[in-house]
Amino acid sequence: MTPLSENPFTLGVASGDPLPDSVVLWTRLAPAPHEPGNGLPADGSIAVQWELSEDDTFRRVVQSGTADAPAADSHTVHLDLRGLEPDRVYWYRFRADRWISPVGRTRTAPRPDAAVATARFGLLSCQQFDEGYYTALGHLAREDLDAVFFVGDYIYENAINAQGGARRLADPLPSFYDHWTLTLEDYRQRYALYKSDPELQAAHAAHPWYVTWDDHEVANNYAGDISQDNDPVDQFRARRAAAYRAYWENMPLRRPQRPSGPDLNLYRRFSYGRLAQFDILDTRQYRSDQAYGDGWHTPGPETRDPARTITGDAQERWLLDGFRASTATWNVVAQQVAFSQHKETPDDDARVSMDTWDGYSASRDRVLAGVERAGVQNLVILTGDDHVHFAYDVKKDFDDPDSATLGVELLGTSVSSGFDGDERLPDWETTLAANPHLKYYDGRRGYVVVTLDPQRVRGDFRTIAKVTTPGAPITTAASFASEAGAPGLQGA
Ligand SMILES: [Fe+2]
Repeated sequence: MTPLSENPFTLGVASGDPLPDSVVLWTRLAPAPHEPGNGLPADGSIAVQWELSEDDTFRRVVQSGTADAPAADSHTVHLDLRGLEPDRVYWYRFRADRWISPVGRTRTAPRPDAAVATARFGLLSCQQFDEGYYTALGHLAREDLDAVFFVGDYIYENAINAQGGARRLADPLPSFYDHWTLTLEDYRQRYALYKSDPELQAAHAAHPWYVTWDDHEVANNYAGDISQDNDPVDQFRARRAAAYRAYWENMPLRRPQRPSGPDLNLYRRFSYGRLAQFDILDTRQYRSDQAYGDGWHTPGPETRDPARTITGDAQERWLLDGFRASTATWNVVAQQVAFSQHKETPDDDARVSMDTWDGYSASRDRVLAGVERAGVQNLVILTGDDHVHFAYDVKKDFDDPDSATLGVELLGTSVSSGFDGDERLPDWETTLAANPHLKYYDGRRGYVVVTLDPQRVRGDFRTIAKVTTPGAPITTAASFASEAGAPGLQGA
């Protein structure tokens, strides 16, 4: 091996998808993170040593070995460790040549039959690099969490003009980023840019993440094979294949998630003792094209058409079968776009978003029918995408406030997308009248801390006042809880 003359650990370390005996460890070698190819040879492989320890000083190393970082995977490592103890904190690090990576901390899941007293999770989404500092991620890194859910828009595909558009950047970026991402190299470099951020690195190093994507990991508002601008399908599938490939390379995901061309199996299920089942959805790859265009529109025959789907048939069956088989106290569904109905005005012909579950109401009705049929009483939906905090009661019939509440939806705001945002919604009274099941709004940046115990779920909505300048403090703007067996959000 040629010696590495520069430190290759510029993009941090990560862990993810914890199981009772396993966790995935990740890193990517990039001595020159802002150059195509990251300053490494275009073929071959680099050997990376790794260590897993019971303490953060690596005196009690329990496993160690060597992994390959192949050029074909843009020098990423995906290490699927086995034989770990359940519900245990571990520390890990990598070494290549004479360079040693930052230390990561991770944690395995409890055994499936374990009674878990309490567990805490972060909920993140939407981190457009050129719209704000990752202050929220720095704060999240210091939270006491079991794991983190990232529910989409990890990168954005837009051209970044470091001179004009990139508001957070003191140092100009190479003009390399000043075009839209289309090719595998574009997407690989976009991940390198985002992951060069020290606060994103800290958030990954502090907690294991369960990740899923939304649209911007490929392109805005795409649906299955169909791009927003209706590009030729073959052309869009090639772009999707490049984007999916770079996504897998850059996330702490296992081998079964490795894509094949434009297909990547991202929906997956985890258990957290008897406390929770996590169903992590992919509502992008298999969805029907948006109805009535991609924007806001009055619902009509097309949104209600049972032949249209947001999950695809196979994922829907898998989800409903999982509800039936579940014995967990909480059924947590982590997914990308708003599930609850959200009307623009109280009028009967009010518009709703065609890109969310509102645009696929037959899909939503089938999921809610499945929830009822399975006797699921503790549905918790974790969502992103809207760049604001929302909290909703999930109603059997959203048009009838007296209908049963079947669960709750905690929709977390963006990390940075949308710049600073505003705390209050100017037409809050109208929005509330249109959506009586909506319990909360805050339009600033941040994340949610979700605490589960056998009695209740609690969401603490963390916000920061500013992301266009660094270093803002974090506050808990509001907290809501819902009791096990009696879904419905109450201020807490
Ligand atoms: Fe977003």
